[in-house]
Amino acid sequence: MTTHKLCIAPMMEWTDRHFRYLVRLMTKHTRLYTEMLTAGALIHGDRERFLRFDESEHPIALQLGGSDPIEMAQSAKWGEQAGYDEININVGCPSDRVQAGRFGVCLMREPALIAECVTAMRNQVNIPITVKCRIGVDHDDSYDFLCHFVDSIKQAGCETLIVHARKAWLKGLNPKQNREVPKLDYQRIYQLKIDNPNMNIVINGGINTIEDIKLHLKHVDGVMIGRQAYKHPEFLLNVDKEIYGQANSKQPSMNDVIHEYAMYVEKNIKQGIPLKSMAKHILNLYQGIPGAKKWRRHLSENMHKPDVGVDLIYQGLEKMY
Ligand SMILES: Cc1cc2nc3c(=O)[nH]c(=O)nc-3n(C[C@H](O)[C@H](O)[C@H](O)COP(=O)(O)O)c2cc1C
Repeated sequence: MTTHKLCIAPMMEWTDRHFRYLVRLMTKHTRLYTEMLTAGALIHGDRERFLRFDESEHPIALQLGGSDPIEMAQSAKWGEQAGYDEININVGCPSDRVQAGRFGVCLMREPALIAECVTAMRNQVNIPITVKCRIGVDHDDSYDFLCHFVDSIKQAGCETLIVHARKAWLKGLNPKQNREVPKLDYQRIYQLKIDNPNMNIVINGGINTIEDIKLHLKHVDGVMIGRQAYKHPEFLLNVDKEIYGQANSKQPSMNDVIHEYAMYVEKNIKQGIPLKSMAKHILNLYQGIPGAKKWRRHLSENMHKPDVGVDLIYQGLEKMY
């Protein structure tokens, strides 16, 4: 099972379609995930705009938040019609907003309901329905608790599970702390793979280097990377070769990437997309390289100004060298 060998995590406000386009310029094979979209937003909001993505983004998964099987099935259908390759259910998010809406990680306590969602969604679409969860929630953090959850969704036909290797503390920790404070337990996910050999198990949480990815792949089917891919994306330039073994594929340089992205930005500005919504994703590109601070400063100080265009990116490059 190699479909999920390397995945970029769903991240609200970060993995929007512009960032995903940028990632695709660095790696052709890594699987991408959208930010979470709620079923409610798709039902009541500007569905076409929310679901839009570029053809180059394949393979691309749509992450949905919700727990009403009918709404989730309808949303999955819209996702399939829009061309997504996978629909993923968010059972990992700990924010208050999400708890109030009865979705996210609190649903690990309602495995039957998630199983019902999986069944309803599978009845509507032909693409895979997958789940992203954590290893537990509050004091419900035993291995048995996790296995009970996994058994339920497996019986409903979910074949791929992504697990953030830490539990969530719903009382007292905010979402950011919930990505740092509860300790990581990779062994538990390795054990889950041993106990569910036919499931596609993807590990997530605190994985930062190509060496780490390779080590995890000895135990599980895939690795999902979140913050590192956004804050230090330069390692993505090497993954097609190092992880996918595409020895002959031309490895792009960061300059190739930025020039291609600038063309994309120019095209989008003409369609009325503000520069800042695309430029914010490239602030981190040159970290660790001399001149990176000048690049970052030039972009961040100017990208919010009215009437700035793609030239800002070229000026940023000039300032750096
Ligand atoms: C800014 C931000 C937004 C996130 N939004 C989502 C989300 O929409 N859905 C989700 O399942 N996880 C979300 N996450 C969690 C990540 O997908 C991932 O599970 C977590 O960051 C741990 O992986 P990492 O240590 O590689 O970052 C978010 C994380 C960050 C930093």
